[in-house]
Amino acid sequence: MNHSRFLISCILLGAFSCQSSNERGLKDEFQSNFFIGAAVNARQVDGSMASADSLLDLHFNSLTAENGLKWSNVQPEEGKFAFEFGDNYVKRGKKMDAFIVGHTLVWHQQVPDWVFRDKEGSFLSKEALQERMDDHIQTVMGRYKDQIDGWDVVNEAFEDDGGWRKTHWYLLMGEEYIAQAFAKAHQVDPNAELYYNDYNVWKPEKRRAILKMAQNLRSRGIRIDGIGMQGHYRLDFPSLDQIETAIEEIHQAGFQVMITELDVDVLPRPSDFDGADLEISYADSPEWNPYADFIPAEVHDKLVNRYVSLFGLFKKHSDKISRVTFWGLHDGSTWLNNWPVRGRTNYPLLFDREMRLKWNTASFQKKTIIPT
Ligand code: GLA
Repeated sequence: MNHSRFLISCILLGAFSCQSSNERGLKDEFQSNFFIGAAVNARQVDGSMASADSLLDLHFNSLTAENGLKWSNVQPEEGKFAFEFGDNYVKRGKKMDAFIVGHTLVWHQQVPDWVFRDKEGSFLSKEALQERMDDHIQTVMGRYKDQIDGWDVVNEAFEDDGGWRKTHWYLLMGEEYIAQAFAKAHQVDPNAELYYNDYNVWKPEKRRAILKMAQNLRSRGIRIDGIGMQGHYRLDFPSLDQIETAIEEIHQAGFQVMITELDVDVLPRPSDFDGADLEISYADSPEWNPYADFIPAEVHDKLVNRYVSLFGLFKKHSDKISRVTFWGLHDGSTWLNNWPVRGRTNYPLLFDREMRLKWNTASFQKKTIIPT
């Protein structure tokens, strides 16, 4: 591990647990706390990028499929399944002895329109859609039975105000679509952990609705293990208190907490919204791409400090949190280069475009945690 990699591990951990071995990655530093995961794309799991391989091997002990297991990729046409990504992904995960996460079975985005319609183009009946959903879960989850350790069964079913998101799933099947999906998933792979995953879980109304749904499933004997808080955060928002309350309440309600899609957007937004709704999209413009060539030192330091405080909070609650997964491996491959404005240069992860671990000059000066 080079010096800068070592520094960030020290910073994230605090002085007392900083050791001088240069083979320790983030996964080792947090071994007694939670898994450290990364969402990966096709090129990062097919063995063609040695740099990605070594980064994954050193720092991560959990993987999430960034896009490759979403419906539109895995079953683009009815009955035509594409498993090349999934097979490579699982192989890569096993090689690293990682906790492997499947993402995601039932979602309203990155799902083809045919899923909801019959041959004539009319919307399916409740029963017909359920059959399609069951087949999909059976085929995709079934292929990786006992190999994928946990699945995001349903993604983003609620609006920020706690109302049901009016997706095709909801409109055609009603609230029960969630119970059906979890029940089917458990039937297909009884050993897999099953999760509900969403953004802005720090918002009280949304969280309340999610927990009510999850407790309802439990009370009916339907397996649901945990709630994924996506964690698409910004430099100063949401507050640590808001995140902490969410962690505590999910735990109190009896569910595993996972930070499933962590990144910290450092760029300005054209309008005031938060979360991760992929339908929001602005065209590229220089005005919204202020750090096209480099990230100013003060912004970089803010980013690292934000990670230091977030990980401080996660460590404090490591009895409740089972996994912290970054949404992407390095700044060069983050979705935030294209959302909510396309074609920008963003810096939201812990690894830069050269795949070097980031560190903070300010913290370095202030803290006495660096061995001399
Ligand atoms: C949501 C989804 C992820 C991903 C991100 C943006 O958070 O759960 O699969 O699409 O949006 O990349």
